[in-house]
Amino acid sequence: MKDKLTELFLKIYGSRDGVSVYFAPGRVNLIGEHTDYNGGHVFPCALTIGTYAAVKVRDDRKIRMYSDNFPQKGMCEIEVGDYGYVEKPDWCNYPVGVIWALYKKGYVLDRGIDIVYYGDIPSGSGLSSSASIEVLTAYFLNEIFGFGIELTDIALLCQYSENNFNGSNCGIMDQFASAKGKAGNAIFLDTATLEYEYAPVKLDGQSLLIINSNKKHSIVNSHYNDRRREAETALSQLQKEADIKSLGELSESEFEEHKHCIENELLVKRARHAVYENQRTIKAKMALQKNDIKLFGELMAESHVSLRDDYEVSCRELDVIVEEALKLDGVWGIRMTGGGFGGCCVGIFDTDKIDNIKDKIDVVYKERCGIKADFYDVSIGDGPHKL
Ligand code: GLA
Repeated sequence: MKDKLTELFLKIYGSRDGVSVYFAPGRVNLIGEHTDYNGGHVFPCALTIGTYAAVKVRDDRKIRMYSDNFPQKGMCEIEVGDYGYVEKPDWCNYPVGVIWALYKKGYVLDRGIDIVYYGDIPSGSGLSSSASIEVLTAYFLNEIFGFGIELTDIALLCQYSENNFNGSNCGIMDQFASAKGKAGNAIFLDTATLEYEYAPVKLDGQSLLIINSNKKHSIVNSHYNDRRREAETALSQLQKEADIKSLGELSESEFEEHKHCIENELLVKRARHAVYENQRTIKAKMALQKNDIKLFGELMAESHVSLRDDYEVSCRELDVIVEEALKLDGVWGIRMTGGGFGGCCVGIFDTDKIDNIKDKIDVVYKERCGIKADFYDVSIGDGPHKL
């Protein structure tokens, strides 16, 4: 990949001298969905797919960016210090937002830079291509300009940029998973305190598989921000009685005791998801540590039902994949993963039955939804690094 990126840089900017190549991963979340902005736990892993960049600083104040994923959209060219929203090409607002966020926090570039990006995360799959380009950009700028920012602060800075520059009110999960990824491990993160623990994913005879519904997911245009507001409203109503700062502080029984404070059934459903999903995530991490894959799989399946019925962030395509998969032999658990409204499912399957499972889902999904699904074997990779 290093050679591919260096060659691309040469093609676009006419030289390859002094070019460095960096990578930051995408993520898949095993369980703990829509809990990260509710003060709960999440359990994602960084992937070995992500975004790459070939970069070289310049002697003047120009910043140029090109993406090999969108060659038809052309080049983005801005000046150091001039960080407004870019109309065209639109993809570059993720890296520009990060440079803007650095600037806002006092990390100023003293020269321009030429950048070529290339990502191998399927677009719209909900596997965090945006977090990976953000973390990548913050990571190489931090290295090259010597800002000395820690990885957790890189994740927070990227979230800040996505919230304030790109207008998506996302939580910290995606940027944290990309910044702090560790090969072979899931990250058990308490989003209220940012304390985290690595949990080795050592499956014996089973494998993780991602199934892309190919129904495009985008949290900017989805009901994501509505869900966040609904959860906040439910929280403020619960606070009349319960002394809590977030829904993540409630156990299931405490929620049942206080839920009468919530004024309508829709908001009860939203809060119930946030509370129960957080507790499921804590149980799932313990199950994984005890190698209890049966329990882990059951918790995944319950998570999907809650996301579908209480939080209402699934969609027909994801529901069909989960429903059909659960009928098959060798399936331990499966759920939608990420923000929802499209994107991917993640499941745990017997390794020796996986080909058969893929074939069956492929056929029935095409039949019922008229779309072709894609399948990716999950390899859990490291966080950002130089190649
Ligand atoms: C998106 C957001 C995350 C998280 C998930 C849902 O991926 O970016 O912060 O809220 O949705 O769990």
